[in-house]
Amino acid sequence: MTFPLDISATDGRARTGVLRTPRGDIRTPAFMPVGTAATVKALTVDQVAQTGADILLGNTYHLMLRPGPERMERLGGLHKFMRWDRPILTDSGGFQVMSLSGISKLTEEAVTFSSHIDGSKHVLTPERSIEIQADRLGSDIVMQLDECVAWPAEEARARSGMELSARWAKRSKDAFGTRDLQALFGIQQGSTFETLRRESSERLQEIGFDGYAIGGLAVGEGHQAMCEVLDYAPDMLPADRPRYLMGVGKPVDLVEAVWRGIDMFDCVLPTRAGRHGQAWTWDGPINLRNARFAEDQDPLDTDAPCPASADYSKAYLHHLIRADEILGKILLSWHNIAFFQTLTAAMREAIAHGRFDQFRRDFHARHSSNGA
Ligand code: GUN
Repeated sequence: MTFPLDISATDGRARTGVLRTPRGDIRTPAFMPVGTAATVKALTVDQVAQTGADILLGNTYHLMLRPGPERMERLGGLHKFMRWDRPILTDSGGFQVMSLSGISKLTEEAVTFSSHIDGSKHVLTPERSIEIQADRLGSDIVMQLDECVAWPAEEARARSGMELSARWAKRSKDAFGTRDLQALFGIQQGSTFETLRRESSERLQEIGFDGYAIGGLAVGEGHQAMCEVLDYAPDMLPADRPRYLMGVGKPVDLVEAVWRGIDMFDCVLPTRAGRHGQAWTWDGPINLRNARFAEDQDPLDTDAPCPASADYSKAYLHHLIRADEILGKILLSWHNIAFFQTLTAAMREAIAHGRFDQFRRDFHARHSSNGA
């Protein structure tokens, strides 16, 4: 059984609705906070839930290295381990191998890599990735193993990555089989080449997935080039299935991607930026380390439904960040996750009322007001 996607409204290419899963509804467009190592860094799951997040992302790469898939299974799976009983999507590992591990060898069969933690050698095949995600971690939405080609790429190189990803998509699907309580997403690749993206989409749809991701973006090509791909890529994917843009992004990226038909996102930005003293707001990003906040008694956002945003002065946050106090990182991570949830909720609302065009224009006018 495939998770039903109930689209309640569309506005241009933008859509809003609910992806129904056995562990709960995911309101779309959805932003998934990243819980790489079985934690959304610096936050409790109760805080994350309070921000309005319906689903978290976990990483096969990190969890297979530590605490290890078999131990995780003995401990009752990822949901129980981290005390999050709502849906979890896990990434398959290939992308993190490329970006984090030392030496990696890529063959038709598998990706071989050494751990960034202790240098130990590991092998990941499409079948093993599915087994870890679906059977050991107990993920709700499982991603196929793929190859994300670095940007910029020659067309021949982008093609070989797309074709390997398509063959791995088939192996991933065969390993996953059909399941009642879990879904499998395929990943479109093809870098910035429209013909490759089209071929990728066709090959994925021949295999048949519960949802479709767009991979290989936000890898250095920049906002404009990403938008150019999103001008055509989402429309190549089935309209009745969720479309997930992987690893994206800044608030402006989210608004532009939703405008072009994307339903799901994940990104480390809110938590990573928070640990570095950066707060994302309707007026763009600000750095609390800046001296101009030393005596600013206003909170980040009086109207926000989050204590970190509404109850603490910028002067206090400035002090915590300057003093390298752990609470500063906690409060800013919390605020940023809440802001991303507020942003996606506002987009859902605007689409539902047929005023997403106006929302987008207002967003850009305000968001760029401080030079962001
Ligand atoms: N995260 C961000 N981009 C990608 C991608 O292309 N593939 C996978 N598996 N994860 C990603």
